[in-house]
Amino acid sequence: MAILAPLLIVLHLALCTLAVSVPSRPPTIQLDDATVFGVSDGWTRSFLGIPFAESPAGQMRLQLPKAVPPYSGTINATQFGKQCLNTGASTIPSWLTSDMKTYLGTTFGPPNPSSFDEDCLNLNVIVPENVGPLEKLPIVAYIFFSGFDFSGTYNEDGRIMVNHSVAIGEPVIWVSMNYRLGPYGFLPGKEVKEAGVGNLGLQDQRLALRWIQKYAKAFGGDPSRVTLLGLSAGGSSAIFHTVANGGNNENLFHGVWTESGPIQHAGYIDDPINQAIYDDFVAAVNCSDVADSLQCLRDADISTLQGVAGNSTENFWATAADGVFFRDLPQLELVNGNISQNVAIVMGLSEDEGTLNTLAVLDTTINDTVITGLIKKTYPNITDGDVQKLLTLYPDDPAIGAPYDTGTDFEIIPQWKRYASIAGDIDFDAPIRLTAQLRADKQPVWVYYYERNFVPGFGSTHGAEIPNMYGAGDMTDLLIHFASTFNPNPSFLTNPSSPTCSSTGGAPRDTSKEANTARAPYWPAYSTSAPTYLVFAANDTFAYLNGTYRSEQIDFLNTLNKQP
Ligand SMILES: *[C@@H]1O[C@H](CO)[C@@H](O)[C@H](O)[C@H]1NC(C)=O
Ligand SMILES: *[C@@H]1O[C@H](CO)[C@@H](O)[C@H](O)[C@H]1NC(C)=O
Ligand SMILES: *[C@@H]1O[C@H](CO)[C@@H](O)[C@H](O)[C@H]1NC(C)=O
Ligand SMILES: *[C@@H]1O[C@H](CO)[C@@H](O)[C@H](O)[C@H]1NC(C)=O
Ligand SMILES: *[C@@H]1O[C@H](CO)[C@@H](O)[C@H](O)[C@H]1NC(C)=O
Ligand SMILES: *[C@@H]1O[C@H](CO)[C@@H](O)[C@H](O)[C@H]1NC(C)=O
Ligand SMILES: *[C@@H]1O[C@H](CO)[C@@H](O)[C@H](O)[C@H]1NC(C)=O
Ligand SMILES: *[C@@H]1O[C@H](CO)[C@@H](O)[C@H](O)[C@H]1NC(C)=O
Repeated sequence: MAILAPLLIVLHLALCTLAVSVPSRPPTIQLDDATVFGVSDGWTRSFLGIPFAESPAGQMRLQLPKAVPPYSGTINATQFGKQCLNTGASTIPSWLTSDMKTYLGTTFGPPNPSSFDEDCLNLNVIVPENVGPLEKLPIVAYIFFSGFDFSGTYNEDGRIMVNHSVAIGEPVIWVSMNYRLGPYGFLPGKEVKEAGVGNLGLQDQRLALRWIQKYAKAFGGDPSRVTLLGLSAGGSSAIFHTVANGGNNENLFHGVWTESGPIQHAGYIDDPINQAIYDDFVAAVNCSDVADSLQCLRDADISTLQGVAGNSTENFWATAADGVFFRDLPQLELVNGNISQNVAIVMGLSEDEGTLNTLAVLDTTINDTVITGLIKKTYPNITDGDVQKLLTLYPDDPAIGAPYDTGTDFEIIPQWKRYASIAGDIDFDAPIRLTAQLRADKQPVWVYYYERNFVPGFGSTHGAEIPNMYGAGDMTDLLIHFASTFNPNPSFLTNPSSPTCSSTGGAPRDTSKEANTARAPYWPAYSTSAPTYLVFAANDTFAYLNGTYRSEQIDFLNTLNKQP
């Protein structure tokens, strides 16, 4: 981002006519009094690195994000802005196979086209090349995956989805926002709670959603059709916005599509475990002995903080009930019905999610003690009796562990498949099913189950759908339909209606393309009487799954998930 001498504004032509792209001049958008110029690849226009909040650096560190004042001047939005500081050191287990390493590298480690900085609250808008200023296109607000401590908005290329949306005749706009990570975005502790500055990373996302309401029209977006899309921590973030503020979504969004990112069991921000994280961090920065430790953290040099956070093997930055963003524990907000009712929800997961959780196992020994530690990480206050019950429900039998249906294969170290099975159910299968059960029949809910992209060892694990969803696959089609109508089924399957000009990005609607979008069968909504999951099955086929598998195990976990 830089302020430059004013450029010529390329005027956009009106609705229903094709704008002629002028390669020699960059695409521009007017925001308040500013001219924003972006970059075109001939198919899509990207406006990158637009600041939506004031810098959260220095004295603004560990403070609520503050919206930017009205824009003025000329804004160079041709390149990604600075990404939020990444924290945490990852240690790779010795038992990882080369297949597994390859999967991790290609799935979660895309090249970073930018650099990292504490001043990072910027967002990106990608629109179809020929969108006119009077268009009202649905908006996909992408919340990047992060484990709440790594990566950035660059981690999926939104141009692919936008270009594909035009190809199938249902153009969408992509917005991706940066949010603070690690201790800058997710510092717990009673000091943080008292100052009202918990879950700042989620507050950053929220501010970006308010920005969309204010500015999306300038890009041809329809602020009344906003879908939050995310995977992993990005998916959990997306659905957290439904329980934020006790369920008041401020009409900032209307659909949520979360991949492997449910409302997981969480703790209070000032509980003993979270307080210890704060105390350790503050001590490492030498801020323990001062009256106002938060102020001490703001006064500290960012390189000092990064020296502590960047080398932390703790890697435990997470969301917690802070009393502001989450008025109560998120799982209780869900159980109590304090959730946005007027939002359509798609949730899904991969078959073998928990195999990725085994990366936490650095030793080559897994035994009951290790599995108990895994259970207590999510349920610190669980009774000994309930731990014993879980150990019994998940016996050490590789044939029933994850990756599922692989017999005795892939038992990489003893009890590895047992660990993977229970971890996946705790983090994904159980909370997704609980949300589906509690919300079905009250608001639209669809659930998918991903069985493709099988990797020896991992199976179809966390992130398996990434090449599909972010690579113009059949899942992309369903997301695009959902962004338009809040139903993942193509409209011609359910409610054939005559094409309208306003939904075509200015180009005449090509109905022949719609045949391409029926790459999936009809996807019935989940209901308590028919809890059907749509399966993305091997070899690009589809199937339906009765969402009652492992019900003894998952129902028991969900008794725990309904409690503090
Ligand atoms: C916009 O910013 C980028 C990155 O700083 C720079 O390379 C480019 O020259 C700038 N464009 C213009 C027209 O100044
Ligand atoms: C955009 O989609 C079209 C098909 O509609 C394809 O031919 C083209 O290669 C795509 N462009 C990019 C940059 O992906
Ligand atoms: C904290 O203080 C100790 C003792 O003065 C010093 O060795 C250490 O480097 C300090 N740590 C940081 C992060 O500044
Ligand atoms: C939602 O939360 C508010 C405030 O936290 C509380 O007063 C209300 O009872 C809750 N509603 C439900 C349905 O639990
Ligand atoms: C369980 O495994 C851990 C290491 O992973 C080891 O420290 C511990 O001694 C083991 N416990 C038993 C009872 O074997
Ligand atoms: C997928 O196709 C391959 C090659 O045709 C076949 O060997 C394999 O059994 C198929 N897998 C499934 C699950 O149908
Ligand atoms: C799904 O499974 C449950 C429990 O096994 C069973 O009662 C129900 O009939 C099944 N539903 C379908 C549609 O097969
Ligand atoms: C778990 O127990 C501790 C007391 O040891 C308490 O402070 C904490 O709030 C409890 N956690 C929950 C989620 O109730």
